[in-house]
Amino acid sequence: MLIRENPAFEGKELSKTEKARYAREKAAYFLKALKKFGNCGKILYVDGKPVGYAQYSTSNRFPTTREYRAKNLEAKENVAFISCLYIADQNFRGRGLGEKLLGEVIASLKKRDFKAVETFARKGSANNPSGPLEFYLKKDFRVKEEIDSDFALVRLDF
Ligand SMILES: CC(C)(COP(=O)(O)OP(=O)(O)OC[C@H]1O[C@@H](n2cnc3c(N)ncnc32)[C@H](O)[C@@H]1OP(=O)(O)O)[C@@H](O)C(=O)NCCC(=O)NCCS
Repeated sequence: MLIRENPAFEGKELSKTEKARYAREKAAYFLKALKKFGNCGKILYVDGKPVGYAQYSTSNRFPTTREYRAKNLEAKENVAFISCLYIADQNFRGRGLGEKLLGEVIASLKKRDFKAVETFARKGSANNPSGPLEFYLKKDFRVKEEIDSDFALVRLDF
């Protein structure tokens, strides 16, 4: 299993140039995704400060999902995939904000007639693009596929 090491994700300081490059890449990605998929991200603010972020689309729009080698990941247009769910500041974790953000993603997908949402969850660790397995099990997701000792594919049917 490859666990992608993103310097920002690992808490390392990025240079200004790196930050600008990531920002440009992200903006280009969103413009394309917005045209083809529609709304594909949410930012959670507390007192006007952005503290959380979620990104989703259909799984075929995230090529890195192939690295997980899941056999049962759906790529249908009416099944969404969460590629990122993040409460960036550790001090804001454990206060129900992740749950709130996930709830907003689900509500918006339901309104758009999606029938389910899937993601890769990491066992015993929150250090993962979409967070820990334990979080998703509490939110009524079920394990659709055990990938290996670290990861599971989880799914919530609406
Ligand atoms: C996944 C994540 C968003 C959860 O956010 P959070 O605000 O801490 O979660 P909540 O406080 O809403 O927790 C909801 C429930 O899940 C449980 N939970 C959350 N994290 C957990 C963990 N690591 N282990 C076990 N249970 C956990 C909580 O105890 C809570 O349970 P309860 O309803 O019984 O009280 C957060 O862990 C995170 O940001 N992880 C890092 C993800 C990341 O690095 N993404 C990279 C960006 S691409």
